[in-house]
Amino acid sequence: MQEILKNIFERRAVRKYKDMPVPKEMVEILLDAGRMAPSAMNHQPWRFYVLTNPKKIIKFSKEIAQLAIKEIKHVNVTDLLKMTLSNFHLSTMIDFLKNEDHIFYGAPVVIFITTPKADEWGALDVGMCAQNIMLAAKAVGLDSCPVGFARFVTETPDYFYLNIPDTEQVHLAVVIGYGDEHPEPHERIGNNAVNL
Ligand SMILES: Cc1cc2nc3c(=O)[nH]c(=O)nc-3n(C[C@H](O)[C@H](O)[C@H](O)COP(=O)(O)O)c2cc1C
Repeated sequence: MQEILKNIFERRAVRKYKDMPVPKEMVEILLDAGRMAPSAMNHQPWRFYVLTNPKKIIKFSKEIAQLAIKEIKHVNVTDLLKMTLSNFHLSTMIDFLKNEDHIFYGAPVVIFITTPKADEWGALDVGMCAQNIMLAAKAVGLDSCPVGFARFVTETPDYFYLNIPDTEQVHLAVVIGYGDEHPEPHERIGNNAVNL
């Protein structure tokens, strides 16, 4: 299979990482891949805030987890259990519970992606950009997970540390690292194309 197709089919959201740093040059390659994404009217609206300080990552993770817990209180317990079981392998789940980092999964690199709040296509552009980053990561032997919960970072007491201007919106974080699990692919819904 051509490499790009192989990466598309083999990329998984990885939620367990080895305690191994990612070289800075590799992170730069991934950011360059993100920058190559298409964007509406070629605005290239993304900005990347790359966090690699392990203490800060854990601090943000804990602060975001607190906020996320409040949010998921509204979800019913069966749905929550289904969602959790579908996302985690048993071994990952055990590590998850032992671990301190419930949001970024112990990944050594967390890339927050923002766009100007005023950019109406920002969220779509970030989606494309994030996918480029994740496929590029796969291509160089790294793993990744998109983390929507990272949007709560704006409400954390430590948010100022990221130096993100008020005019920008955090859409997502992509975590990067050397994966320490091999999740099975989730079955894909196949009957969603209409041939006309
Ligand atoms: C916009 C978006 C937000 C996501 N947010 C989270 C998240 O906060 N935490 C998490 O563990 N996974 C998150 N995921 C990963 C999805 O759960 C995962 O992609 C999905 O279960 C399919 O699995 P796969 O990526 O391994 O194919 C997110 C994915 C997307 C696209």
